Amino acid sequence: MLRGFSPFGDYPYHAIFDECFTPLQFTTLHGRRAELVVAIDGPAGAGKSSVARAVAEKLGFTYLDSGAMYRCVALTCLDWGADPDRSGEATSTAESIEISFDGPEVMIDGVDVSEEIRTPEVSEAASKVAVHPGVRAAMVTEQRRLIEAGRYVAEGRDIGTVVSPDSPLKVFLTATPEVRAERRAGQTGGDATEIRAAQDERDRRDTARVHGALKAADDAVEIDTSDLALDEVVTRVADLAAERGLA
Ligand code: DC
Repeated sequence: MLRGFSPFGDYPYHAIFDECFTPLQFTTLHGRRAELVVAIDGPAGAGKSSVARAVAEKLGFTYLDSGAMYRCVALTCLDWGADPDRSGEATSTAESIEISFDGPEVMIDGVDVSEEIRTPEVSEAASKVAVHPGVRAAMVTEQRRLIEAGRYVAEGRDIGTVVSPDSPLKVFLTATPEVRAERRAGQTGGDATEIRAAQDERDRRDTARVHGALKAADDAVEIDTSDLALDEVVTRVADLAAERGLA
């Protein structure tokens, strides 16, 4: 680049060109190409997975379930006899496995674990391993590596705040604790009171942890899904994406 001749100083021409003419590519103020990610965060049971999957399909983006990655670490800890509460054991487990996705399938070192990672034991252990900074660092690095290669709808707890703070659209989904527990009970056939107790405990861990705590980004659009049908939420998010030139 010809430094000293640009009316924009060191800000590269190609970045300005991208910002003006290609709405599907974004650059930061420093000219670094930013990922194109619709970030959907919120607590368990707020409808993130169903909404993110449907929005990804509508926009032709790839869906990333970041929670599945914490679940993979948890499942491996349980399989290997590592203690999910111990930072060192959980972190070295996280650093020792390769997590990959093939459509809806989630794999650890090439083995399909899509079903095993959904048990209540793994949910509990996932919420424990997600507290450790070393585990989070390994997952965030991997998530950033995945999303920089394409256009994603990524869901989790810290996508808009940590993983992809430059996302052009951040959505924070909420619902009352009662509605969230009832939805989970409807999906799993479990007892709503027990599910509510486990959910309260996981909410407490998710919001209280120091790194990657569950919270809305300052510029996130909050949607309370308690009284909304799935397709209403999907339409709302897809409309927001269209307003921002992403669709
Ligand atoms: O969304 P989920 O229930 O599959 O997530 C499993 C656990 O992983 C949950 O306890 C929260 C944690 N998690 C996280 O800490 N950060 C994310 N981006 C996604 C999930």
